[in-house]
Amino acid sequence: MQEVYLNGDFLPADQAKVSVFDRGFLLGDGVYEVIPVYNGRSFQLLGHLERLQASLDGVRMKNPLTVTEWQAMIEQLVKRNGGGNQSLYVQVTRGVAQRDHVFPQGVTPTAFAMSNPLIPVADEHKKHGIVAITLPDIRWQNCNIKAITLLPNSLLKQQALEAGAQEALLIRDGYLTEGAASNAYVVIDGTIYTSPKDEKVLPGITREVIIALAAKAEIPLLEQAVTLNQLKQADEVWMSSSIKEVLPITLLDGVKVGSGIPGPLWQQIEALYQHYKKDVAAWH
Ligand code: PDD
Repeated sequence: MQEVYLNGDFLPADQAKVSVFDRGFLLGDGVYEVIPVYNGRSFQLLGHLERLQASLDGVRMKNPLTVTEWQAMIEQLVKRNGGGNQSLYVQVTRGVAQRDHVFPQGVTPTAFAMSNPLIPVADEHKKHGIVAITLPDIRWQNCNIKAITLLPNSLLKQQALEAGAQEALLIRDGYLTEGAASNAYVVIDGTIYTSPKDEKVLPGITREVIIALAAKAEIPLLEQAVTLNQLKQADEVWMSSSIKEVLPITLLDGVKVGSGIPGPLWQQIEALYQHYKKDVAAWH
């Protein structure tokens, strides 16, 4: 039986209960993280915990655990669920209180974590790339906060799925921001472009890794947003997330990206990413 963590306890998933008055349930008042676990070791954990803190600060919520406590709890949870490759989910909500838009006083945040087997990225997606469509970015103005309030993202992703695509690339004011559940990259004339870290995108942990790998390999990368026009004429388009890693997008809005197969810069970054993953999992 899968074990989860809830407010200090480890317990079987079907015994974990949260109040109907929890503000996460009533108002979507919470933040979260998704952390991949390889070979029983969480990948880039400190980066995820730092971003969790930034999200909590962004919504003026106190962190219920210290970094050391998060690390210890996560290590335990991963072990209790059998190690190996997992997808770890961590959520903090403002806590349980009578429904009111205004913050309640003196409540304890609800801390929850679960871990599921990590579904490997489909070989086919790496071999042939994935399909994406562009959609208007209908999300709020604080996309740098990893809030559990995912209704816009969910609607966008569903719309993509119904159009036969795996991801939606979002356009705000004529510029590409990111994917509905990923960061986005565009290759033009040998340079990788990805949106800068501001309130329009989530500062992806995988994005950080890609930027560092590109720098080390001396591949030009600019943290600069591209226009819809540039996106449509790009040589390569990719997306990244902790769970999907780096995936090439080879069909966008029904039109081939470049030559319609995963491009050479994606191949290079993918090789570097897999190498880095193995290295970190070995010593982390
Ligand atoms: N989402 N942008 C958005 C909107 C995302 O939801 C995600 C990841 C990313 C990539 O961030 P990272 O590299 O840190 O995973 C960018 C997770 C996986 C999710 O919501 O399930």
